[in-house]
Order: sequence, then structure tokens, then C-alpha cells
Amino acid sequence: MANYKLQINGKSYEVDVEEDTPLLWVLRDNLGLVGTKYSCGIAQCGACTVHLNGEAVRSCVLPVSAVKSDKVTTIEGLSENGDHPVQQAWEEVDVAQCGYCQAGQIMTAAALLKKNPSPSDEEIVEGMNANICRCGTYHRIKEAVKLASAKSK
Ligand code: FES
Ligand code: FES
Repeated sequence: MANYKLQINGKSYEVDVEEDTPLLWVLRDNLGLVGTKYSCGIAQCGACTVHLNGEAVRSCVLPVSAVKSDKVTTIEGLSENGDHPVQQAWEEVDVAQCGYCQAGQIMTAAALLKKNPSPSDEEIVEGMNANICRCGTYHRIKEAVKLASAKSK
């Protein structure tokens, strides 16, 4: 076990965990930030996506020891009141079906729009297609990313 100081959603946390513990388990089990979901556990679905210094990363395969002083943002910290343009667009388009994959979808979309505020349809598909949705909400995801892009202008 080792002690790690983490910067998450603008707050400092300390945890005592094994160095290879995935960030996902620290978030969910140690810190109670359960908005980030576990699905495949092998970086293949995107359900566990968080931001590390603004970049989308898969927290199920990111050892806590690799996080260091990097700033972690989870779905709980994306905005203060759930009013990030991506969250607003998601609600307006009513994207979610079961909802399980959606925190990861939103975090991926927010990172995509930060890098590329006006993505083309192809760029949206390319940026989002590694996030799996078993309910097949892909059409609405694309529509919501376009709406969020328009809202951010
Ligand atoms: S749970 Fe991390 S990518 Fe699937
Ligand atoms: S909304 Fe059900 S898995 Fe995506």
C-alpha cells in the first residue's frame, strides 16, 4: 500500500491503496464518486472515461500511481450544476436510454469539443466511435455533440 495525493474536480484527496489500483476503483470505492462506470475493464468501451488535464482517458486501465499531480475531472466535476454545454445538449436531445454508458460518452464528447469546437460529422463519428453504447444511442449522441458545438459558439 502507498499513499497518493490526488487532485479531483478541484479538490485534494488522499488515499492509501496499492500502486496498481486502477483510478476507476479509487474514484468509485475509495472516494464514492460513482458517476464513472465500470464495464469492460480493458479499455475497450469508454464507460470509465474521465479527463486527465483535460484529455479523455480510460480510468479502468490507469494505475493510480501514474496520475501524480495531474488534474482529474469526473462527470461529477464537469460543471457545477450539470450545465456544461454537452450536458445541456444531452438533456435537450434526450440521448440516454439505460444511461449506463452516458457519463463516459459525455466526458469523451466534452474533451472532443475542447480540442475541436466545430467538428464535422466524420470527426464526431471518429471521436466518439470507441465509446460503446449497448442501447444504440449513437444517432442521438451525434446530434447532441452537434448541438453542444453550436451552444458553445
Ligand atoms: S470500463 Fe474502461 S474502457 Fe470499458
Ligand atoms: S444508454 Fe444504455 S448503454 Fe448506452
